[in-house]
Amino acid sequence: MKAALLTKHSKTNLDLTIQEIPVPEIKPNQVLIKVRAAGVNPLDNMITRGQIKLLIPYKLPLIMGNEVVGLVQEVGNKVTKFKNSDRVFARLPLDSIGAFAEYVAVDEAALALVPDYLTDEEAAAVPLTALTIMQALELMQAKAGKTIFISGATGGVGGMAIPISKAKGLAVITNGSADNKDRVLGLGADRFIDYKTEDYTKTVSGVDYVIDTLGGAETEKQMSIMNKGGHLVNLPAMPNARFAKRFGLPAWKRFLFGLVGRKMDKMAERYGVAYDFIFVKSDGAQLQEVADIFTELQVKPSVDTVFAFEDVNKALAKVANGRSRGKTVITFNN
Ligand SMILES: NC(=O)c1ccc[n+]([C@@H]2O[C@H](COP(=O)([O-])OP(=O)(O)OC[C@H]3O[C@@H](n4cnc5c(N)ncnc54)[C@H](OP(=O)(O)O)[C@@H]3O)[C@@H](O)[C@H]2O)c1
Repeated sequence: MKAALLTKHSKTNLDLTIQEIPVPEIKPNQVLIKVRAAGVNPLDNMITRGQIKLLIPYKLPLIMGNEVVGLVQEVGNKVTKFKNSDRVFARLPLDSIGAFAEYVAVDEAALALVPDYLTDEEAAAVPLTALTIMQALELMQAKAGKTIFISGATGGVGGMAIPISKAKGLAVITNGSADNKDRVLGLGADRFIDYKTEDYTKTVSGVDYVIDTLGGAETEKQMSIMNKGGHLVNLPAMPNARFAKRFGLPAWKRFLFGLVGRKMDKMAERYGVAYDFIFVKSDGAQLQEVADIFTELQVKPSVDTVFAFEDVNKALAKVANGRSRGKTVITFNN
């Protein structure tokens, strides 16, 4: 089968190498998926740049790709939930990624059935960002009737965060780029703020939860609009000690991330809020919950550009260049 492999970490050259390799063999709890589409994420380029080596020390060469949509081709003898020809999707388990290939072997615990109304390309936009939001809301123990602020919600994460937060009964305030205002309101946001013309620190208060997709100086601004006892989850930041413990990292990494995350922890203390970083994991049951929510609400994920598998490096370069209007996806002609 054809697969796109990372053979060498590089800060500047993000290109993968397309090679012919054997189709993977499945374990008893796995299914073999014939890949139809794969989502391309900033995370893929972070892996190439070596930016997450401390979290997950991948061995090279590595078949890349974190997010998959495909058809079940073969099932292991302990698989109970899926059968041949099922259309499934997943955020692949951290220790067995490999969506940029014609076939991938996946634990059934990571998989969910794709809602019928979604195309393969639309479905490829869902798992990683939707699970990020589900896991952030779970960590916050978000309760219906409370208010959430989602920064930069005009991007890929926001497209999932808004409908999922609304489905969980939260009031949603967002900010982002003005040309996406109508799309964001269409997803169900209760209030949209153009970040170039309105300073939300002057006009918004009483926020219970924040999903911070921006980080940097924006994090403290977002803490300043929160109620005491609120909870902020930061997506682009560095891990802290709490994360390192939850993630099961060894003591020396917990110590290291404790130092790295100290500034944020102290800041949160000053504002009387809880602060967390998360790193999205695979979870088939949570993804099935998303699939059910999306089927009910008929949420249409925004797809920016679709590339053929052979152009995977163009897709990665596009993601690296930012200014996305939704998900970048690669497809296989099958
Ligand atoms: N930790 C995890 O597990 C995890 C999971 C998923 C994603 N992430 C991270 O989350 C981050 C966001 O991802 P994304 O895919 O949503 O990014 P994206 O698609 O690039 O979207 C970012 C959006 O924010 C807007 N924006 C820029 N500056 C802003 C500001 N100052 N105030 C308000 N809005 C602003 C942008 O508008 P313009 O078009 O005007 O620039 C854009 O619409 C990335 O860093 C990604 O790596 C982390």
